[in-house]
Amino acid sequence: MESDNVLEEPKKILCVGLVCVDLIQICESFPKEDSDQRCLEQRWQRGGNASNNCTVLSQLGAPCEFFGTVSKGVFADYVECDFRDLNISCDNCIVHEGCDFPLSSVIINKENGSRTIIHSNRNLPELTAKDFHKLDLSKYCWIHFEGRRNTSAISAMMRRVVHYNEEERSENQPRVRLSVELEKANRTQLLDLIPLCDVSFVGKDFATSQAYSTMSDTIRLLKPSLSPGSQLVVAWGDRGAMGVSKDGKIVQSIAYTPTEIVDTLGAGDTFVAATIFQLVNGGSLQESITFGCKLAGAKIAIEGLKNLG
Ligand code: ADP
Ligand code: FRU
Repeated sequence: MESDNVLEEPKKILCVGLVCVDLIQICESFPKEDSDQRCLEQRWQRGGNASNNCTVLSQLGAPCEFFGTVSKGVFADYVECDFRDLNISCDNCIVHEGCDFPLSSVIINKENGSRTIIHSNRNLPELTAKDFHKLDLSKYCWIHFEGRRNTSAISAMMRRVVHYNEEERSENQPRVRLSVELEKANRTQLLDLIPLCDVSFVGKDFATSQAYSTMSDTIRLLKPSLSPGSQLVVAWGDRGAMGVSKDGKIVQSIAYTPTEIVDTLGAGDTFVAATIFQLVNGGSLQESITFGCKLAGAKIAIEGLKNLG
């Protein structure tokens, strides 16, 4: 008989996707082309959607792990220290030597907190399904995927989780739940991932690039792709968020706009992480998106993604 005394480690939320370094410059106003000026402030920050999701989850007290590819060097060292400072595991990351670390140049306009991102990823390979295969899925309660360019690899990773849930998981273990975020414009192929997930998050940049003009429009057009009992969430900047719950009910939250918008970089990542946190902890979809909007509203009132907890 198995011993009851062995304390099982709490199951983690795994976020799969990008970690990069954000080189941020805060400017008085958005710069004119070909001008030469000083910024008000500058800082580095660990970035990337999945990495940002972990930053938020860990401050909320959720055990979490980041999984993605990294290279070696100063940026990789910085990112690893920063993950460790926040108690975010990154032990399973795939290291590719001799590649450049992904970087983003970000201009934050102090007038309205807008963020303009110029991202570079020269040669760091994306994760493969084989990389994913090495994970012990019994360690996780939820796996969230950032919808990146390697859609067919992500689909294979998700199917691996579905297979684990159906064929390998022991009966006393809960199902590993799956979510995806469709955020970047024009990555139409990501739509194929929706039927595999328990929760699909769609951002306004992706939605508008598909010519969905509002949150309701997005929900109406994507609802038929959901598998039975799964949920859809659409976030739309200062319009808040809307969702379809397991029983097909539409739920909605207003946006919680602070008096001053300081920095909108990572607002969407904060929303997604906070919503997942509530869902993992048994919240209804209505409660979860409301919490997501509240935390995203709190985030845009401060610089960076720390000091949210
Ligand atoms: P991103 O562009 O970072 O993916 P969005 O602009 O879609 O993110 O916003 C995600 C969430 O952040 C929204 O659902 C909302 O709750 C919050 N948010 C973003 N911008 C604002 C804003 N101007 N006022 C209030 N809340 C906002
Ligand atoms: C914000 C973010 C940044 C990163 C960029 C990558 O959502 O993850 O941290 O530079 O998007 O596209």
